[in-house]
Amino acid sequence: MVVAVLGGTGKLGLGLVHRLARAKYQVIVGSRDPDKARGVASVVSDETGGLVKGEANLEAAGLADMIIAALPVAGMRDVLAGLGEATRGKVVIDTSVDMANMPGQIDCAGVRVRSILEDVRATAAFQTIPAAVARSQGTAADCHVFVFGDDPEACRATVDLAGALGFDAVVSGALSDAWMSESITRMLIGLNIRYKKRSIGMRLVGL
Ligand SMILES: NC(=O)c1ccc[n+]([C@@H]2O[C@H](COP(=O)([O-])OP(=O)(O)OC[C@H]3O[C@@H](n4cnc5c(N)ncnc54)[C@H](OP(=O)(O)O)[C@@H]3O)[C@@H](O)[C@H]2O)c1
Repeated sequence: MVVAVLGGTGKLGLGLVHRLARAKYQVIVGSRDPDKARGVASVVSDETGGLVKGEANLEAAGLADMIIAALPVAGMRDVLAGLGEATRGKVVIDTSVDMANMPGQIDCAGVRVRSILEDVRATAAFQTIPAAVARSQGTAADCHVFVFGDDPEACRATVDLAGALGFDAVVSGALSDAWMSESITRMLIGLNIRYKKRSIGMRLVGL
């Protein structure tokens, strides 16, 4: 399975790239700058022994079976707008959190991706996973991943991927419910600041 991480050079994306490589996925780091992507891929490949290469976002998306969009909300449209054919029919996992506007059902993670790329099978996940947790060396992570989506197979694929990366994942609602995850993330960021931590995440009990 080939997984592309668009924005895989960034804080969260890089952590996921490391985890994917350690879990023996073929990984493609996507970037606006293919040289930057290749540089990052080479470092991760050396560190993990995994199959990691770097490409421009368009090529990365085209080569992938599954795509993680680890992009800031502000730059997402610019990156995704040209990727229609390369992403058609694929599962695209949106990790985004809108820190500038309060998200709602018509403009939340996953819905944002689907509004740009109409023919993808969008899910939203990893919102509540701090980059420091994604980047941590241990395989298993203590946090739950909340998965949102309207396509049951895409949700299952997202849960399976998160599981392979060491997270317990739960399908938590429809795509338009992903604003809830974004709201929790705002709280977690506040807690990390208040308690001077970087890895406060969330774990469900009683499942
Ligand atoms: N950081 C976290 O702890 C965390 C946790 C959960 C969810 N998230 C969410 O996940 C997404 C990625 O977060 P992040 O912290 O990893 O972001 P980031 O490091 O700021 O950016 C990720 C990558 O996106 C590309 N990028 C940056 N600005 C861009 C722009 N204006 N237009 C297009 N591309 C741009 C860059 O890649 P290139 O320069 O290589 O193209 C960058 O390395 C965000 O939506 C964030 O809210 C973050």
